[in-house]
Amino acid sequence: MRKTINGLSVFISGSNDSKAIIFVHGFPFDHTMWQAQVDEFGKYYLCVSYDIRGLGESPVGDGQFTMESFVDDIEMILDELKLSKTILCGLSMGGYISLRALEKMQERFSAAILCDTRSEADNNEGKLKRAAGIKRINTEGLEPFAKEFITNCFGQDFKQNKKDDFEKIIEKSSHFNPVGVKGGLLAMLSRSDTTTNLGKINIPALLICGEQDALTPPPVMMDMFHRINKAYFVEIPKAGHMTPIEDPHVVNEAIRDFLIKNNL
Ligand code: MLT
Repeated sequence: MRKTINGLSVFISGSNDSKAIIFVHGFPFDHTMWQAQVDEFGKYYLCVSYDIRGLGESPVGDGQFTMESFVDDIEMILDELKLSKTILCGLSMGGYISLRALEKMQERFSAAILCDTRSEADNNEGKLKRAAGIKRINTEGLEPFAKEFITNCFGQDFKQNKKDDFEKIIEKSSHFNPVGVKGGLLAMLSRSDTTTNLGKINIPALLICGEQDALTPPPVMMDMFHRINKAYFVEIPKAGHMTPIEDPHVVNEAIRDFLIKNNL
């Protein structure tokens, strides 16, 4: 079922009587990056995925986004769907949003699944890279930016063996609204650092990272793992930054184990 909440395109599957998982996608992708997880966990949970403002089918508005406004959107979705103690699952930028949501309203969640993400804010080099990305979109259009960015996101295995899927993903993101994509870059560039809050997370957290993740490599996520009280860490062999797409079978197994171990 598709619903519009606070203007956002929200996709819901599974039964209302079940525990809920909310999936927050990465940049510059859309809710479909969680398809394999929604297909599997929709059998047992209420699965809620959505397109982050400015990306996919969600509206761009003025393109002025912050991590805070992205967290407000999650809050609206939880309120509208009357969800409590939801399992929060975010990848990369979806992880930044999730980490900030945990800082702000941890009581609304029963567990967190953090994939290929980091708690540190951008350093100077990172901020300049985002600025260069915005300039490139302004001068060359979205396509070359999307192609290069997304190419860095995937591991070699996926790019070689799932060439068609890989190209379809680039093609789709290349047609997003450039204003929304630039808004996402600005929101990431200006986000706060959530590292000091990691020690205050008192719900179970599963950390998943691709062995070949070039953007948020395993040592970065291992550091987060050591700071969270009840954390589990799973490295996905041969995968890059987009683990749920690159190896859905192993990722789903890790999520299933985590949910069972924690009676979720
Ligand atoms: C993402 O996958 O959401 C992005 O790689 C995050 C980022 O650029 O920091």
